[in-house]
Amino acid sequence: MSASVVLVGAPGSGKSTVGALLAERLDEPFVDVDAVIAERAGKSIADLFTTDGEAVFRALERAVTVELLEQPGVLSLGGGAVTSEEIRTALRGHRVVWLQVSAASATQRIGLNEARPLLLGNVRGQLIRLLAERAALYAAVATLTVDTDGQQPEAVVATIVDAL
Ligand code: S3P
Repeated sequence: MSASVVLVGAPGSGKSTVGALLAERLDEPFVDVDAVIAERAGKSIADLFTTDGEAVFRALERAVTVELLEQPGVLSLGGGAVTSEEIRTALRGHRVVWLQVSAASATQRIGLNEARPLLLGNVRGQLIRLLAERAALYAAVATLTVDTDGQQPEAVVATIVDAL
């Protein structure tokens, strides 16, 4: 049995919050790829980036994502997962929800969160860059797109459930 719903989107799009609520609503497990990577690596994502480097993180991300896609539950991917062709290919045939967010809203939600290594220094500027680089990739894998700007997580969950 594979993941029932896969959430993709930029950091600050609400993947973890919406994913946990959606899983509760569907009475399924919630699985967060970043949390599994951190657990297996025995260190935080931020520490993985600092000590081992982004390439090591991305290799772990590819392996763990492809593995978890084939397990039941609601699965939340890391914001950069869609940059991997291997992951994009593995997403084919899955129900993939893109939680769309503007750089302004994502910046508000994230605040100054040091746990996100790619956003250090200039959260808003980095988000603008990441969104520009990745919008087409999120769009390419998504089977449903939900605009989360100004929406509470419960409303986003309701929109997803209605579309299932
Ligand atoms: C990343 C997003 C992070 C995490 C890592 C890289 C990215 O996940 O996977 O720091 O490339 O955008 P979130 O989207 O949950 O912040």
